[in-house]
Amino acid sequence: MIELENLSVLYKNNTIVKDVNLTVKKGEKVGIVGESGSGKSITALSIVKLLPESFEIQGTVKVNDKNIYLLSEKELNKEIRWKTVSVIFQDPSSSLNPLLKVGDQIAEAITYHRETTGNMKKTVISLLKKAAIPDAEIKYESYPHQLSGGLKQRVIIAMAIACNPDFIIADEPTTALDKKTEKEIISLLNSLVNEKNTGLLFISHDFDVISKTTDRVYVMYAGYVMESGKTGDVLKNPYHPYTKGLIACIPKVEGKGKRKLPVLPGNVPDIKSRPSGCPFHPRCKRAKEICKKEIPEIEKINGREVRCFFPVINS
Ligand SMILES: Nc1ncnc2c1ncn2[C@@H]1O[C@H](COP(=O)(O)OP(=O)(O)OP(=O)(O)O)[C@@H](O)[C@H]1O
Ligand SMILES: [Mg+2]
Repeated sequence: MIELENLSVLYKNNTIVKDVNLTVKKGEKVGIVGESGSGKSITALSIVKLLPESFEIQGTVKVNDKNIYLLSEKELNKEIRWKTVSVIFQDPSSSLNPLLKVGDQIAEAITYHRETTGNMKKTVISLLKKAAIPDAEIKYESYPHQLSGGLKQRVIIAMAIACNPDFIIADEPTTALDKKTEKEIISLLNSLVNEKNTGLLFISHDFDVISKTTDRVYVMYAGYVMESGKTGDVLKNPYHPYTKGLIACIPKVEGKGKRKLPVLPGNVPDIKSRPSGCPFHPRCKRAKEICKKEIPEIEKINGREVRCFFPVINS
């Protein structure tokens, strides 16, 4: 299990992520959703200790009961990264070495992390095939720049599953792709995690994508978890005004003609100028005096967790 307990991340005395409690069990599909700058990636990177030293971590991060911040870099590389938790980033180019053939890169990752027997090239080609890469034998010999964005992301997925990890963290893996490729990549990820009972932490700013990928969701805003619960319940009946706003931005497709999409007015506050009280209050129609002064605690309501003084219930 991935377990974050009161995780806070600070950078130059500014709090980027605050008191996040989050779990992902093996076989579970969990989402983090929120606008740009809400702290999704920082939270994800802290799980595998990939943040630079300049970030201060408070709280605990455990993976399969091991406290990540008590392990050495060597232990993390040997035991945790790729082998137990693999991360798929938004931009596939940043995860691939431009100077190496993609097949060789996967082979290298496998050799480092797991005992191997048999023909390595065959193993890699079968992984590329699993990631639904056409002409896998030919693609093995390709350099990253010779592949489309969608194919590169499939190579990363092949690499992510190469060491049979217990968990995959996918940080906006489809944002750079067109809608059709996005759909294909999501369905590929879904089938691969189902097959191996892998735990999935899927990050997106798009509630529509989250609703198609996850069973449980955490809604983040300005470094805080504002609401969490079963994805279907949250989508049907959001309690937090921020969640409600995010869901209102999902395009209601298939209508004829162009419809103007509602957008949430305002922006996520910069880490240096967070407002007092609830960070969402300047954008919130329901905000009252107390919201400007105090940060609400997380409250449990109907099996859901909500951080709001005036949640939207039965309305
Ligand atoms: N390397 C960095 N140095 C300093 N601050 C950073 C760094 N990376 C991110 N931040 C700050 O941390 C906050 C959260 O960033 P994060 O990247 O986690 O957001 P996000 O929710 O993943 O957004 P996006 O949807 O754009 O990927 C932002 O305010 C950002 O400015
Ligand atoms: Mg991000």
